[in-house]
Amino acid sequence: MNSQQDKVNFCGSECISQAVETRTKIANKVNKRYTVTTALPYANGPVHIGHLAGVYVPADIYVRYLRMQGRNVVFIGGSDEHGVPVTIKARKEGITPQQLVDRYHNIIKKSFENFGISFDIYSRTSNEHHHKNASEFFKTLYDKGCFVEKTSLQFYDEDNKQFLADRYIVGECPHCHAEDAYGDQCEKCGSSLSPEELINPRSSISGNAPIMKETKHWYLPLNDYESFLREWILDGHKNDWKTNVYGQCKSWIDQGLLPRAVTRDLDWGVKVPLPQADGKVLYVWFDAPIGYISATQELFENPETAAKFQTDGEQATWEEYWKSEDTKLVHFIGKDNIVFHCIVFPAMLKAEGSYIMPDNVPANEFLNLEGDKISTSRNWAVWLHEYLEDFSNKEDVLRYVLTANAPETKDNDFTWKDFQARNNNELVAIFGNFVNRIMVLTHKYFEGKVPTAHNLQEIDKNVLQEMLQYPDKISASIEQYRFREALSELMNLARLGNKYLTDTEPWKLYKTDIDRTATVLNVSLQIVAHLAVLCEPFLPFTAKKMRLMLGLSEHFMWSDTSREILINEGTALKEPAFLFEKIEDDAIQKQIDKLKNDRE
Ligand code: MF3
Ligand code: ZN
Repeated sequence: MNSQQDKVNFCGSECISQAVETRTKIANKVNKRYTVTTALPYANGPVHIGHLAGVYVPADIYVRYLRMQGRNVVFIGGSDEHGVPVTIKARKEGITPQQLVDRYHNIIKKSFENFGISFDIYSRTSNEHHHKNASEFFKTLYDKGCFVEKTSLQFYDEDNKQFLADRYIVGECPHCHAEDAYGDQCEKCGSSLSPEELINPRSSISGNAPIMKETKHWYLPLNDYESFLREWILDGHKNDWKTNVYGQCKSWIDQGLLPRAVTRDLDWGVKVPLPQADGKVLYVWFDAPIGYISATQELFENPETAAKFQTDGEQATWEEYWKSEDTKLVHFIGKDNIVFHCIVFPAMLKAEGSYIMPDNVPANEFLNLEGDKISTSRNWAVWLHEYLEDFSNKEDVLRYVLTANAPETKDNDFTWKDFQARNNNELVAIFGNFVNRIMVLTHKYFEGKVPTAHNLQEIDKNVLQEMLQYPDKISASIEQYRFREALSELMNLARLGNKYLTDTEPWKLYKTDIDRTATVLNVSLQIVAHLAVLCEPFLPFTAKKMRLMLGLSEHFMWSDTSREILINEGTALKEPAFLFEKIEDDAIQKQIDKLKNDRE
């Protein structure tokens, strides 16, 4: 695999570590193929740290890890460009919905690229392919008789001749009596509402009182899928789904499922492909998850992007990633999306009949910011594109902090002080410092060339043995979607390196025993090299810097880290460069001030 790898370990044979058992357990779970999706963010605003922490960083860690394991995986993302909020915002700005989503799609896409979210495709739901696919999906279900048709009374604006989505209706809140509550929610007191509850409802488009008018829609009778959902989720995933996810599903199912409308009276979205459905589009939550499938199709229809996915010279097809039982489908989402990904979308797929179900839906809780809910409308957020203006080249610092503090089991708080502390006390003081000391010492004593390891002492053998436990520990955590735990194990490996240095004190040895110094630095460099490989899923930019600095090959796989020797004696190291740098108080204060000043 790697030309420099002539030695595997110091004893010259495959060491049998105690971790074999764990490894076997993990290996048993290997799937033939993986389809990993991330919630499609609404293209009506930029993305913030909550998005990264909840969905995109964990998904990216998982996918990068799978790739390093040599597994066959597609990583799907894209923008969710339909829905009422897009039309409202576009109207406010006096532009078309398409112009609005064009703007934000590009900003969002760029932000993800900048933070190293390694999608195989980042698509969008306003494109032609998706419209065609979503429309066909609807038609298939329609033709199979999966929908029920119902007529109901809905608010209608006679001046503009259009039905009004809940968000387009404003009025007095029945609870706190705020003036401008929306038909679905009062922002003042936070109650969720339905438009009929509003006192003196008005259309936010014309300002006039709407009338009630009959309209026909198509509903997916979720109640028909209850026994399927019970068996699949409640019986089948009690032990492997996160408790927050399982608990929400159970409560939805236990409450009794109702038919859900999958169409809307609106002119922005995927047109309902029926002659009698003029002026109607698919409900955004019907078309958006189909977007995952559309994006996968696009990926495989384009020979350039498809080329990567071949087995034994055979071109893979999108169907294998969505319809084959030996594919593992995983949806990364935030907790507000659970019902759609665990109940509604699976019911749609089941209705169609030829799709697999997700194997897991590792939804995260929410990330708060400085003790308060992140809010786009109040501008209480750290926007990714703005972060990079102030902290260019610190993508990994944010990835690190958001993973170390990820809202995996409960809501968590991001504070700038914690950001600073984790950077200074963990990335700089533990990880960066260890790597830097080894680099500097090797340059100082051995002209930057990896020195020869002479006789290994007990302490060297022990540290190497301990080092070799980490790949499996980290794997086990990642495979169970415990990314915080995985990251803390990575840091423990850096701590191990620091402790070894403190115990052996090569800077003292140098005067008396140059061979011993060489051995200690060689062993330390093996730890550095293992860190360089193992940190890649979490800190991809740092991993790359380290590889360059160490003169390592690009092609290390996860399994390579089961070898003691990753970097051979004689390898010429590049000049030491700091991986991380201290963040001073004033930089942090600036962020806190900015947040408070920009608050609306
Ligand atoms: N746009 C939705 C949100 O941000 C997520 C859509 S996920 C998809 O909450 F599955 F529908 F694509
Ligand atoms: Zn209210």
